[in-house]
Amino acid sequence: MNAIVVYKTKYGSTKTYAEWIGEELNCKTADAKEITIDELEKYDTIIYGGGLYAEIINGVILITKNIERLKNKKIAVYTTGITPLDCREYYDKIVVEKNFKNGLPQCIKIFNFTGKMIINELTAVHKAALKTLKKIMSSKKEPTEMEKLLIELCDADGDFCDRSQIAELVKYIVS
Ligand SMILES: Cc1cc2nc3c(=O)[nH]c(=O)nc-3n(C[C@H](O)[C@H](O)[C@H](O)COP(=O)(O)O)c2cc1C
Repeated sequence: MNAIVVYKTKYGSTKTYAEWIGEELNCKTADAKEITIDELEKYDTIIYGGGLYAEIINGVILITKNIERLKNKKIAVYTTGITPLDCREYYDKIVVEKNFKNGLPQCIKIFNFTGKMIINELTAVHKAALKTLKKIMSSKKEPTEMEKLLIELCDADGDFCDRSQIAELVKYIVS
């Protein structure tokens, strides 16, 4: 199999998953910063990973803006984030709609993994962004269940990376 795992990470969660997937599939991994679309085009199978930041999959534009060139390949996109994996409406609707404006292309299958958020490691800008988000959500008179969860998640602090979560993605790629 001619496959590559490409990732974009700020705090390391997405890279950790890339390395686990690379080990399982015995394939190359690369930081998105180090790869061009011309190089990417040489692979038949592409796994792209990015952390979620305000529902945007970090760097996924590498795939979406080049979809015409990549549409005949097998592509898996994985996200890492702190939203619990059973929030299917969040992942299957909100995240998909925000990142794939024309709908999810047929060649792409999405997987979601839990990442890490260690408050002490965050940049000042990220700490401030979380504080602002929490303030906005908390000021709502009648927050929805999703908004209540988002308020809680702003205080999440821990490493929730878990190698067993990659099993489904690995199975899909080798199938
Ligand atoms: C400013 C900020 C915004 C975030 N937004 C989201 C989000 O919308 N959804 C989510 O599930 N996690 C969110 N997270 C958590 C990160 O996605 C999570 O920590 C991820 O694993 C980081 O991946 P990375 O370390 O590879 O960059 C956010 C974290 C920060 C600091």
